[in-house]
Amino acid sequence: MAHRLGEAGSEGAAVRQRESSAMNALELRGVEKSFKKRRSEVVRALDSVSFTVGRGEVVGILGPNGSGKSTLVRVISTLVVPDAGSVRVFGVDAIRHPKTVQRSMNRVSVEASFFKKLSAMENLLYGAKLYGVTTREAKPRIKEILDNIGFDRKRASEPMEHLSRGMQQKIALARALLTSPVLMLLDEPTTGLDPRSKRDVQAFIRRIKAAHDSSILLCTHDMDEAEELCDRVGIMVDGRILALEEPEKLKRRYARDGHVPSLEETFMAATGYTVEEASA
Ligand SMILES: Nc1ncnc2c1ncn2[C@@H]1O[C@H](COP(=O)(O)OP(=O)(O)OP(=O)(O)O)[C@@H](O)[C@H]1O
Ligand SMILES: [Mg+2]
Repeated sequence: MAHRLGEAGSEGAAVRQRESSAMNALELRGVEKSFKKRRSEVVRALDSVSFTVGRGEVVGILGPNGSGKSTLVRVISTLVVPDAGSVRVFGVDAIRHPKTVQRSMNRVSVEASFFKKLSAMENLLYGAKLYGVTTREAKPRIKEILDNIGFDRKRASEPMEHLSRGMQQKIALARALLTSPVLMLLDEPTTGLDPRSKRDVQAFIRRIKAAHDSSILLCTHDMDEAEELCDRVGIMVDGRILALEEPEKLKRRYARDGHVPSLEETFMAATGYTVEEASA
């Protein structure tokens, strides 16, 4: 009898586990990744990383240079295989089923790759095709997205290599949005943009958050961006996530003598880095 109960109990736990996984857009458990450097030196880029991103939630990760943010994004997007731990995207094991999870997410990073000689429009149509979206369906949607992110449509027919880095970044974002991913992985989406473009992109992230019910993981050095756009913010140092909670709670955790610090002060207290040092 005890044995049967035990069985039923573990089955129940398995069902609960599946249900909680399906409720979350992203679930990481004990993810580890080390890189071998020169000689016998090893860098632990990800050290027991565990957290979730709920459906429709925007989670920000703040961390100094080299803290592991891009590695985290690469592991989730299945470009890098972790040494240990599990990654689930809408309940699906990303390590066992990379092709399946790739379809439900999209990564935007500063190293976005394009066909440099082709135009922005051609690159976007190509991107759409990879996800099974026809040119006819894609064209009006591309126009809408370009208008929304403040990209001058006239320039969409110029070769990618003629566009500034900020413009290319907008095209990378447009390409990710075109396929309506349910999970967006944004690795410093506004780094290198001029203030106006930055505001355009942030406003657009806010809109997709409101309208599309997309879930977003946003790695950034920008404290205001994190505070304004994210439901929860995590602080990453040396491959570890030190804290991950609502910005207000995070700040209150570091309150001293009744003074609730700004997110920037909180970041400095948690990491020992100033914001300038962290993004140098
Ligand atoms: N392919 C690789 N081979 C060797 N080391 C790597 C590799 N990728 C990342 N690393 C190392 O892992 C650590 C984390 O790097 P990562 O790029 O994830 O940091 P990051 O937080 O994105 O930094 P930044 O803010 O500068 O973009 C660094 O020490 C980096 O040198
Ligand atoms: Mg990075």
